[in-house]
This record gives sequence, C-alpha cells and structure tokens, in this order.
Amino acid sequence: MPQLIVLPHEEICPEGIAIDVPFGISICDALLQHGLAIEHACEKSCACTTCHIIVREGGDSLTPSDELEDDMLDKAWGLEPDSRLSCQTTVGRDDLVIEIPKYTINMVREG
Ligand code: FES
Repeated sequence: MPQLIVLPHEEICPEGIAIDVPFGISICDALLQHGLAIEHACEKSCACTTCHIIVREGGDSLTPSDELEDDMLDKAWGLEPDSRLSCQTTVGRDDLVIEIPKYTINMVREG
C-alpha cells in the first residue's frame, strides 16, 4: 500500500502523520478515514476549493487534473503549481507527501 505523508498543519494534524492508504482511494477520503478533518464543503463534487492540497512528492503517480478541477483550483487560496483538489485526486502506486494549505477560501471569507 502506498504511504501518504501529511506535513504538519496547525489545526488538522500539528505533528504531521504518515498513513497507509489503498490504491485508488481519493486523497480526501483517505484523510477523512484517518480522522484528519480536511474541509470538503461541496461533499466532494468538485464545486468548491476547501479540499485543496499541495502535492510535495509523488505527484507523477497521480492522474492529471481535468478542466473542471483546474477551473475550481484557480479560485483556491494559496494556489501552487502542484495544487490539487483532494476529492478529485486518487492515490496511485507511489508514496505521496502532501501539504494542507494553512487556509481555505471559506476561512478567508469568515475572517
Ligand atoms: S470537496 Fe469541494 S472540491 Fe473537493
């Protein structure tokens, strides 16, 4: 099973975490199943950006984003070249290192 390493995030996992995740699961579901409360305001239907992550390693093993995901990502807080929507990104064969951005657009709006 590939390993998913989540870099420390102040609220969601202050110490960071490494978890074994099955091939083909969405990164968002993998995080939620392990008790990491990543936001997913649109219930994983690619209609928000709250599940935004940045893939720091292993991105080559992921299926490329489609046009809809790219359009949504353009609205994400802290967009980077390796940004993905975790509900639209499934785990491949390789280990991954991801970062959950400090803010989501929801938090920015709510101040
Ligand atoms: S949960 Fe809304 S796009 Fe992923």
